Amino acid sequence: MKICIVGAGALGSLFGGLLARAGMAVWLYNPSNVAHVHAIQRDGVCIERDAEIITVAVPATTTPDALADADLVGIFVKAHQTGRALEQIAPKLNPRSWVLSLQNGVGMEAEILRFVSPERFLRGVTSQGATLVGPGRVRWAGVGPTVLGRWSGPPTPEIDAIIALLRSAGIETDYSGEVERLLWEKLLVNCAINPLTALFERSNGAIVEDPQLREVARAVVCEALRVARAHGVGLGELEAIDRVETVARRTAQNISSMLQDVRRGRPTEIDYINGAVVREGERLGIPTPLNLLLTKLIKERSP
Ligand code: PAF
Repeated sequence: MKICIVGAGALGSLFGGLLARAGMAVWLYNPSNVAHVHAIQRDGVCIERDAEIITVAVPATTTPDALADADLVGIFVKAHQTGRALEQIAPKLNPRSWVLSLQNGVGMEAEILRFVSPERFLRGVTSQGATLVGPGRVRWAGVGPTVLGRWSGPPTPEIDAIIALLRSAGIETDYSGEVERLLWEKLLVNCAINPLTALFERSNGAIVEDPQLREVARAVVCEALRVARAHGVGLGELEAIDRVETVARRTAQNISSMLQDVRRGRPTEIDYINGAVVREGERLGIPTPLNLLLTKLIKERSP
């Protein structure tokens, strides 16, 4: 199976590197971070985990040509870059490829579905934590489950094969028939961890270690949960809080993707995370003042 990773930043390079290490034919595509691509071409992807360093040779490229005969295309660009990335790859995209998005947030699916049939679209979530620490170098800062499902249609043996290959690469992966619920459950995690760690410049562990941040995070989760219930999330408040805090503990050392973006002066995914809760809350008539406040504060901090 040939796999092409679109948007090989921290998480994309981690997934691509692990799949290549397991013997898959992987291509990493990143048209904007040329220094990262050149470092991988020269030295391979370097995955740092605690004291261990895993170096894997993987072809990397700034052009989308490798997509033409890919069996699986992984979309790892930031939520707000999805439309542009899909427009760039569309001329090379093979209609028979499976397209998998494990992106944070909700709302970018429409951009993917402009070019990908819903039957070939796999959407999922991951709690793996990764940070780009330099060109070609990724810190694997947290291990967590990955769950994916088919946007439209029943599971197929091909999807089972994709899950099996992710597992064989050491990426714990399961199938879900309830993609929407899955996305909104993960959104609860990102709603609390991402903006608070970004605003207070703390690693994920602070969400459980700092009593004040913990209290605010819990209030944000409970508020977002009222909106998430309209999307199939059946968790009680304590369960939802426990999910968020479990991820914060498992990725305690990780610098959240939003803090990474704020530190680099890049746009964040806030519109697809807390901003999505606010928009859905407005539509449903559910007030979301905390999520609105966090959205505004993050927008003050990023372009
Ligand atoms: O966006 C992130 O950083 C990740 O989704 C997560 C799970 C919060 C870990 O840092």
